[in-house]
Amino acid sequence: MKTTEQAAPRILIADDQPDVLESLRLLLKAEGFVTESETSPAGVLRAVNGRDFDALLIDLNYARDTTSGQEGLDLLARLQALDSTLPVVVMTAWGSVEVAVEAMRRGARDFIQKPWDNARLLATLRTQIELGNALRHGQRLEAENRLLRAEGRPTFIAESPAMKPVLELIGRVGPSDANVLITGEHGTGKEVVARTLQALSPRQAKPMVTVNAGGLSEGIFESELFGHVKGAFTDAKTDRVGRFELADGGTLFLDEIANVPLNLQAKLLRVLETGEMERVGSSRTRRVDVRIVSATNANVKDEVAAGRFRQDLLFRLNTIEIHIPALRERREDIPVLAMHFLRQHAQRYRKSLGSFDPAAMQALLEHPWPGNVRELDHAVERAVLMAQGGVVRASDLGLQQDRDGARRLEDMSLEEVESYLIQKTLARYAGNVSQAAEALGLSRSGLYRRLKKYGL
Ligand SMILES: Nc1ncnc2c1ncn2[C@@H]1O[C@H](COP(=O)(O)OP(=O)(O)OP(=O)(O)O)[C@@H](O)[C@H]1O
Ligand SMILES: [Mg+2]
Repeated sequence: MKTTEQAAPRILIADDQPDVLESLRLLLKAEGFVTESETSPAGVLRAVNGRDFDALLIDLNYARDTTSGQEGLDLLARLQALDSTLPVVVMTAWGSVEVAVEAMRRGARDFIQKPWDNARLLATLRTQIELGNALRHGQRLEAENRLLRAEGRPTFIAESPAMKPVLELIGRVGPSDANVLITGEHGTGKEVVARTLQALSPRQAKPMVTVNAGGLSEGIFESELFGHVKGAFTDAKTDRVGRFELADGGTLFLDEIANVPLNLQAKLLRVLETGEMERVGSSRTRRVDVRIVSATNANVKDEVAAGRFRQDLLFRLNTIEIHIPALRERREDIPVLAMHFLRQHAQRYRKSLGSFDPAAMQALLEHPWPGNVRELDHAVERAVLMAQGGVVRASDLGLQQDRDGARRLEDMSLEEVESYLIQKTLARYAGNVSQAAEALGLSRSGLYRRLKKYGL
């Protein structure tokens, strides 16, 4: 990543004439710039591929006796494709304004005529460096803002003995840089734990950037993670900053990690091992400093045994593993969580509800909660909407129906059971068709077909 905002600006100068390079080097050095020089277009491309520069100052003619500027113009196009935020200033001979104009059309930011005026050259470079930094910074900020809008500090409730070791681990590893793998069933609070780790870490002022490996196709996933450069593939109309770069200095939360396709696992492993990556379509290596927190509800060790997950990657990810028990294994947390959600939803729906009546609390404690804390949250939300008067009653929760329903299953036809299951699942996922379809093991269209069939 760029680190040059405060450090001395780094300039790459390119010309085929050694005396030109030397006098530019002396001039720029005296003004506090760091310079590198190259004598050919190929050398320039190699240098830009390998390192970050704040600006390039390049001649347009390299082969002896040429004045067309063609080599320089070709070089500009390639530089533009590599990194369109990189400021390039071209040097042209006196009287070749057409070439200078053509260079500007191909992406040069400004031009200097030889022999140059020192003051004008320095002013031009400084302006372009400032603009370049602003552009790169802007590109980053815009993407960061999009991701951060939904962020807030998490409330993390855990009072049961089963959660004690979890709390201890969080407290211990939160402030460190260790990579953490969070495991647990659906809805147990893996994301809440990830946010809590981030809030405790010295990186808390930096973003926690989330990538959900479950929701993305393989092609898109790679450019989500690593970014891409314009033209890397048909839809790549502009450069794009990837999540790794966005998370630089902060934390990257890789959700549903078991779903990362094998070939991307190899690329992921490399960044974790070296801190180096390239945007898709670019061979320029960038360094990133990212803490990885990942989560999964799959058993990754089984995935490793089945050859679907790389063992070496797992070793990198689970320096520390935090396993969150299912809600049914920590019933002591149910009342506190339920009260927390009750307050939250009562406020949101402007209802003055203060508590659950004893039967309601009993029902909450007895329910198996296959959807864990998320299911509890949704059940309480529904109850808040249903409740009349100052307390939530068992009938408002609708959990009793489960048992009635379960008892009647044997008496139902197969179609009735299917319809019943679909309704239950939709209710559990608050009407979210994608999630319900996934839980039922159906495709979205498969679920829609059945909804139509049963008139739901
Ligand atoms: N300990 C907790 N304290 C307060 N709220 C919690 C707690 N655990 C979970 N929640 C809430 O329950 C919901 C589900 O939690 P979260 O999204 O973190 O689960 P998850 O394990 O990531 O689920 P999934 O596997 O489906 O991605 C969220 O609304 C979250 O705020
Ligand atoms: Mg989650």
